[in-house]
Amino acid sequence: MKLFDVYPINPINIVKGVGSLVYDDKGTEYLDLYGGHAVISIGHTNPHYVKRLEDQLHRIGFYSNSVEIPLQKQLAEKLGHVSGYEDYQLFLCNSGAEANENALKLASFHNGKKKIIAFRKSFHGRTSLAVAATDNPKIVAPVNETDNVIFLPWNDEAALGQLFATSGNEISSVIIEGIQGVGGINVANESFLQKIRTLCDQHNAVFIADSVQCGYGRTGKFFSHDYAGVKADIYSMAKGMGNGFPIGGIIISPKIQPSYGMLGTTFGGNHLACAAGLAVLEVIEQDNLLQNAGEVGEYLITELKKFDQVKEVRGRGLMIGIELPEELAHVRKELLNKHHIFTGEAKPNVVRLLPALNLTKAHADRFLEAFTTILNHSTVTQ
Ligand SMILES: Cc1ncc(COP(=O)(O)O)c(C=O)c1O
Repeated sequence: MKLFDVYPINPINIVKGVGSLVYDDKGTEYLDLYGGHAVISIGHTNPHYVKRLEDQLHRIGFYSNSVEIPLQKQLAEKLGHVSGYEDYQLFLCNSGAEANENALKLASFHNGKKKIIAFRKSFHGRTSLAVAATDNPKIVAPVNETDNVIFLPWNDEAALGQLFATSGNEISSVIIEGIQGVGGINVANESFLQKIRTLCDQHNAVFIADSVQCGYGRTGKFFSHDYAGVKADIYSMAKGMGNGFPIGGIIISPKIQPSYGMLGTTFGGNHLACAAGLAVLEVIEQDNLLQNAGEVGEYLITELKKFDQVKEVRGRGLMIGIELPEELAHVRKELLNKHHIFTGEAKPNVVRLLPALNLTKAHADRFLEAFTTILNHSTVTQ
């Protein structure tokens, strides 16, 4: 049987990882500033994480949500403590798309309304409603098309206010990434997030903060939306939550009431997933990773802004976008092939840095040196 060929891949076989370093089958070492797409939050094969999963696997890996799973309550408690959202409620699932799907559905159950506001260049996942709220027609199948989703321009307070003024009674939810990832590392203005909060309150709409990529400590605060000083009603999360173990979830404001059967999943919240989730939060807390992400991120952003050839540096903490001119389109490939550094990308020409939250300054310097070498050997016509 052949694989269904949907991924354009690098011909590299990664067989081992330690912290922010990974190794291929030939023994070549790579610096991982991509984190397998923002997933590796506490570094590869963190010893505490490995031990917790191993111990759990020897006890029990899975049982369904038809029985008590105390690990779920432990995870909810720890997440409440580390995030500061102690009065919120946790629903566990398996991926980012599933988290957003549940968030959008729950909002509609809550207020009985149908319309969703999403934003240009947003990415919320590939399941039916999540993909309908994603601004990329290429990945929306005809069956996913709906007129329930309205796309507005990014950071446009006037457009948002106008839509609420004319259709506020129909708006069920507003879904927004605190920093757009796939869209190219675009930071939501604090005043924009504050405006969403106010309008949602005025019109009984649900504010959904998609934190799948930008959350879980990546920006130096637990949720990047926290910089605005307002709380969303639902936060979706996934990538960094399990450090590679598939786990996702939404945390839900106490004003939204659950009822039996409203949401559900077979695998969500299983014993192994909870053990992974707990191990991640324990390491985040113990090793002060929010602080490290904030500090090393700020250092990288400051240094990157010194390069004249770079068009723009965007982001916060360890979620960084480096926008390059067309002449420097080769930089990402050179970083990988010549300097053995993994980075992410956003079309057309943004290098995305999404490393583990415990990236060291020494590793940040290794990247900056390679970046300097490449730029010194490139010509840019101003
Ligand atoms: C902001 C955001 N939301 C949702 C998703 C979907 O997550 P998953 O691929 O786990 O379904 C992604 C994935 O890249 C994302 O970046």
